Amino acid sequence: MEPAQDLRELLSWYVEVGADEAIGEVPVNRYRAPTRVGSPAPASTPTQASSPPPSASFTSPTNSIPPPSALPSSLTSTDNVTKSAREMAAAAMDLAALAEALANFDGCALRGTATNLVFADGNPGSQVMIIGEAPGADEDRQGRPFVGLAGQLLDRMLATIGLDRSSTYISNILPWRPPGNRKPTPNEVTICLPFLRRHIELVNPKILVLVGGISAQALLGASQGITRLRGRWHDYTGAGAGSDNAGPIPAMPIFHPAYLLRKPGMKREAWRDLREIRRRLDDLGGA
Ligand code: URA
Repeated sequence: MEPAQDLRELLSWYVEVGADEAIGEVPVNRYRAPTRVGSPAPASTPTQASSPPPSASFTSPTNSIPPPSALPSSLTSTDNVTKSAREMAAAAMDLAALAEALANFDGCALRGTATNLVFADGNPGSQVMIIGEAPGADEDRQGRPFVGLAGQLLDRMLATIGLDRSSTYISNILPWRPPGNRKPTPNEVTICLPFLRRHIELVNPKILVLVGGISAQALLGASQGITRLRGRWHDYTGAGAGSDNAGPIPAMPIFHPAYLLRKPGMKREAWRDLREIRRRLDDLGGA
């Protein structure tokens, strides 16, 4: 087989298994023998010799944090990082300040691998706030939630009950894309949750729509899967001490559109849940 064809096949295999982002700024030759302390470094391979030096202009603002091993020890435990997230989030008095606080927050390593912060989309004055899991590749590129294939299906689902991005407000549990679209880790969710709780407080929606199991579990503190949680109203009681929000917010978990793309047979259930959301909105007299 031609080497070029080999490389093409290897590349498409990488994409298939989700390794579709270059995380390092220069290639790493993992075949090179490790350098022993005290011995001269082996000669560079041609690839390394021709690699460009890391360029400052290549580094986006979101990629400028040090790796976790270089973080000060006061910031390395999840408790300390979460505490600092809570303090930064609580100090944000409006959505612009919250977005800025997140952009400056260096406690989540995902910020270092993502291209953009994905804060929110839609109308912050609407009655319905929709919360997904985490940005994918398209969202990471554009800096907006739910713009890929799953987002297009979400838009069509919302349209069936007369909603769109001007009558809803959309965000995610995580504001940065996990590399290769892997599932968010519990640690990442814990660290980022104070910002989302503050986000919900500031928007103060009448209804929350929790898209997928990760979102429902994180915000309801539930351990059941989405199949158990979906289809009925839950109380989101996120308001912390000092919040102006009165009482819990009704929250409806629904199947994630990415799941519905894989399992179209489940759309019937999703349709029921959407109709229930419409019914509740009609009771509230709006949107
Ligand atoms: N899936 C999500 O949960 N959120 C997005 O923003 C995109 C895909």
